[in-house]
Amino acid sequence: PKILVLHGPNLNLLGTREPEHYGSLTLADINARLQAIAAERGASLDYLQSNAEHVLIDRIHAARTDGTDYIIINPAAFTHTSVALRDALSAVEIPFIEVHLSNVHAREPFRHHSYFSDKAVGVICGLGADGYLYALEHALAKLAG
Ligand code: DQA
Repeated sequence: PKILVLHGPNLNLLGTREPEHYGSLTLADINARLQAIAAERGASLDYLQSNAEHVLIDRIHAARTDGTDYIIINPAAFTHTSVALRDALSAVEIPFIEVHLSNVHAREPFRHHSYFSDKAVGVICGLGADGYLYALEHALAKLAG
């Protein structure tokens, strides 16, 4: 099984960025934990962070033909703005889980709407970096049949 983890804009600053919302782990810490768990379970895991919408879209398009079985995505601020990223995920028809570190529903009203949630298998928010681990557990369980 092959899993793709996508991180949207500003998540490269994790660890130093508003730790009260996003925690103290860095993105490298999170990716390393995910990759170690996937490897233990015989899965391969690729990840990408980008601040650019088109880079994320192009990676989703590539996932259609590179054998990706499942996508875990934190679209970050694009959650609330990007019809294009939503359409890319719909186009490739790969199941995905939407993850947010913070509880977006406890924050500003503009964070309450997501362009992704109605297309996602599920949504995890407010559980910090652990949310990615729970998403990975779910994907691995589903892919194991
Ligand atoms: C976020 C929540 C978004 O509202 C915000 O723009 C982010 C991160 C989260 O992980 O909590 O950049 O997706």
